[in-house]
Amino acid sequence: MEPVYKKVLLKLSGEALAAGKGFGLDFDKVLEVCKSVKEVVDMGVEVAIVVGGGNFWRGREGGGMDRTRADHMGMLATVINSLALADALEQLDVPVRVQTAIEMKEIAEKYIRNKAVRHLEKGRVVIFGCGTGNPFFTTDTAAALRAAEIDADVIFKATNVDGVYDSDPKINKNAKKFDELSFIDVLNKGLHVMDSTAASLCMDNNIPILVFNLNDPNNIVKAVKGEKNGTIVK
Ligand code: GTP
Repeated sequence: MEPVYKKVLLKLSGEALAAGKGFGLDFDKVLEVCKSVKEVVDMGVEVAIVVGGGNFWRGREGGGMDRTRADHMGMLATVINSLALADALEQLDVPVRVQTAIEMKEIAEKYIRNKAVRHLEKGRVVIFGCGTGNPFFTTDTAAALRAAEIDADVIFKATNVDGVYDSDPKINKNAKKFDELSFIDVLNKGLHVMDSTAASLCMDNNIPILVFNLNDPNNIVKAVKGEKNGTIVK
């Protein structure tokens, strides 16, 4: 089956990379996710990745910490995840480059938009670390921003839930899952797809978001083939 998207920004939840452990990295899981990424790359799709850092640290849970400093720690957590993903992709012979929004040149390239686009054209996966490089912004917003910058067709938000519900399915057994939503619905109803900054950015730039579960990494391949999966916001 032909891919329905040519350029994809894959937003991976850090927590999903911890699998059942809840903290840190489950390397079997990381490899499993990267195998699906490889499958998609082999189909000729350009893949950029933004990864969260919640498996190591959440800025907003920094207790009495200064929010900016707590967010800086969160950005460093995304770099750990980026490097782990890069390593797993290289083990699978997938060419990959890591670019960070905050310069750490001994570890990774710094973010240069045109260079990222060129890497993608050459069939390399590009992983964007450090979120947007700014405190008070989430990695979902980083995904929306980078997707707009590289002109991605879609954002795949691969997470711990299998789509968007009208209420929390863990609490309400009768929660209803949406197949399709508009950005205005998401913003007006306060649905927890992504934060409002990220959702607004996607709405203003016409970038659809497909939300699906990463428990089965093959969902990434399904999504690229346009098979029914999760919830699409457009
Ligand atoms: P082309 O320009 O398409 O040849 O891309 P390239 O990434 O292969 O070439 P380049 O010479 O820019 O990079 C070679 C290797 O060095 C790649 O693995 C890059 O990720 C890495 N690299 C480039 N710039 C930096 C940097 O500032 N810091 C670090 N740590 N690595 C870098």
